[in-house]
Amino acid sequence: MIIRDETRGIFVLSTTETSYALGLVEGALPVHLHWGARLSSPAGLTLPDSPRRPFSVQTPVGSGEANLDGCPAEYGFAGSGDFRTPAWAAIDSMSYPILEAWHESHTVHAGKPDLAGLPSVRTASGDGAETLELVLRDGPSSLEIHLFYTVLPEFDVITRSATFVNSGREPIRLSRAASLCVDMPNRGYEMVSLCGAWGREADLIRHPLAVGAHSIGSRRGISSHHANPFLAIAESSATEHHGEIRAAALVYSGDFLAQVERSSDDQLRLLLGINPETFSWLLAPGERFTTPEAILVYTESGFNGMSQRFHAIIRERLMRSRFRDRPRPILVNNWEATHFSFTHDSLLPIVDAAAGMGIELFVLDDGWFGNRDDDRTSLGDWSVNRRKIPRGLEGLAEEVTRRGLRFGLWFEPEMVSPESELFRAHPDWCLHVPGRGRPTGRNQLVLDFSRAEVCDEIIRRLRAVLDSAPVSYVKWDMNRYLTHVASPSLPAERRQETAHRYVLGLYRVMDELTSRHPEILFAGCSGGGGRFDAGILAYMPQIWASDDTDAVARLRIQYGLSLVYPISSIEAHVTDVPNHQVGRVTPFATRGEVAISANFGFELDLARLGESERRQAAEMVAFYKEHRDLIQQGAFWRLESPFEGDGSAAAWMFTEEGGKKALVFAFQILNVANRAPRFLRLVALDPQGRYRVEGSEDEHTGAELMGRGLRLPLAAGDFAAYRCTLRAM
Ligand code: DGJ
Repeated sequence: MIIRDETRGIFVLSTTETSYALGLVEGALPVHLHWGARLSSPAGLTLPDSPRRPFSVQTPVGSGEANLDGCPAEYGFAGSGDFRTPAWAAIDSMSYPILEAWHESHTVHAGKPDLAGLPSVRTASGDGAETLELVLRDGPSSLEIHLFYTVLPEFDVITRSATFVNSGREPIRLSRAASLCVDMPNRGYEMVSLCGAWGREADLIRHPLAVGAHSIGSRRGISSHHANPFLAIAESSATEHHGEIRAAALVYSGDFLAQVERSSDDQLRLLLGINPETFSWLLAPGERFTTPEAILVYTESGFNGMSQRFHAIIRERLMRSRFRDRPRPILVNNWEATHFSFTHDSLLPIVDAAAGMGIELFVLDDGWFGNRDDDRTSLGDWSVNRRKIPRGLEGLAEEVTRRGLRFGLWFEPEMVSPESELFRAHPDWCLHVPGRGRPTGRNQLVLDFSRAEVCDEIIRRLRAVLDSAPVSYVKWDMNRYLTHVASPSLPAERRQETAHRYVLGLYRVMDELTSRHPEILFAGCSGGGGRFDAGILAYMPQIWASDDTDAVARLRIQYGLSLVYPISSIEAHVTDVPNHQVGRVTPFATRGEVAISANFGFELDLARLGESERRQAAEMVAFYKEHRDLIQQGAFWRLESPFEGDGSAAAWMFTEEGGKKALVFAFQILNVANRAPRFLRLVALDPQGRYRVEGSEDEHTGAELMGRGLRLPLAAGDFAAYRCTLRAM
């Protein structure tokens, strides 16, 4: 619902539990008033008076004036009195700064407009979604800024984006264009983010805010392993289950900046959007530029409350794939089993073993094309290597299908190996700065997806493969950060646009391939979770979470990712030991429970498993099939964090609506001597209900399980896992 108090220039946007309010000082300056609990009316809201203070500049606003420095801006700008990091910045054709933009008009529309060329939340007719469009304008330059706010009441979510329009006669250059800017008083909040590195994605970082700007972001061309395009501020007392949190996720896969700036007056400014350091955009007369979308969530129910809102909106309104609500197949991938050394014949025993266990999909990873026997060649040459696969993909897919599995295939569409036919034919198709060499990473270069002809050719090549064999799953990998980010094909005055144009090109390729092949399940990957973001999830409803497949490492990675991303989107595989990344040996059962907790699969030579592990693997598959709907679509609750205490415990659970059935998972990383019994307090059960622990005689009331907790019969030893199914009696 959007309420307009036209007399006072106040707008209140409300979901079922949240309100977001903004107003207009002097009918001109958009200011932020509230983001928090639901307000029934605008009555209690007042516009800020931003008094004069020593050194303040009084900026003319409408028929009055304001000290912009202390004023809670709605989309802050610099250069005329607000000295915080601005949300947007632009210069005119004479390189003079465009200093201000004042309210010109506003409208409220039903539903939500699409964002040109960018993935975004889509609304359905029953959602009751409404959009406020606020148009700001700078008179001298004729720059218009359209701020879009969409309310999705049932999802308890608000989305924001901005479109810049040059409605004048001279060019304008944008150098900043955030998706979200919110100013608010600080109440001892802490900043929460997901940071890491390759193999250590999504570490949950939480810290108090000192005065100054605190930011995470990416300049790597992709959202990156190092920082996730998500930001939250939380009450310092907030837990998984209680406490106030304001959070935003950016629907974008390129360079981004997420920043919280605390002023000496204890005000906060939250910014989220494209990273201005690698961004610049020329707006010719008549042109427009649209920022990516930010998804905003406010909750008083702690981090689980926040995550459940993100999960629902991403799963139900952002993901476009028809697979978003379908059970995702249990797969086996050959990468850790074979790396590049395989042939048609050597793969079949893995497929045979997988068939015996009830696995549903076989994914052929890197190495099936060109002359690729290692990572030094052939990216771009997407035609099958007949030496390894003499009967072609079709022949292999036929064998796989005959064994009752579907067939999936790996690609790395954005890359080219210097040692490839594609590169020999088009040496200029990679990102590069002329005269400065073309250094490689993993022996490869990044194709210039800012160029339409490059995108078109890659679409053509991939489509030819996808049409040639019954491929039902594509793993889309990306293994090099972007450097030398410049496209010689762009005119000089637009060359700084390459980074964002690359992302737009990527989205076009993804859009085209996924919509032309809707029956293929596409999965994202970037050396694991190098591009685990809402932008990719719009096209590909699941992503390989990390190249680190160690069960202990995965507890942290999956816990971290679950803060924002639905469980169905997090791919997790049981792999061999000693683990290939960390050398750790964990029990097969524990590896299973960690992978079963997400989008489940295997990545090891199943044919070489002993009898007992084969049996266990088949049991895992059967269990996952039985409970897949609950795991992939149910409510997910984090219970114990591997990021807290001595980091030795982790636990989570899944609940069915109505609390009739629950799956509980608990892990013990390092054991200690003489440990007191561990009771795990559950949530979301019916306090009066009685629950049976499946497979045992144990019965408990919901109140007992949520109060005293479930006593965990964890085995002695390190890396132990416990799982149980609770059913209401
Ligand atoms: C990186 C991915 O994350 C791995 O799973 C695997 O596909 C390799 N690339 C193949 O080169």
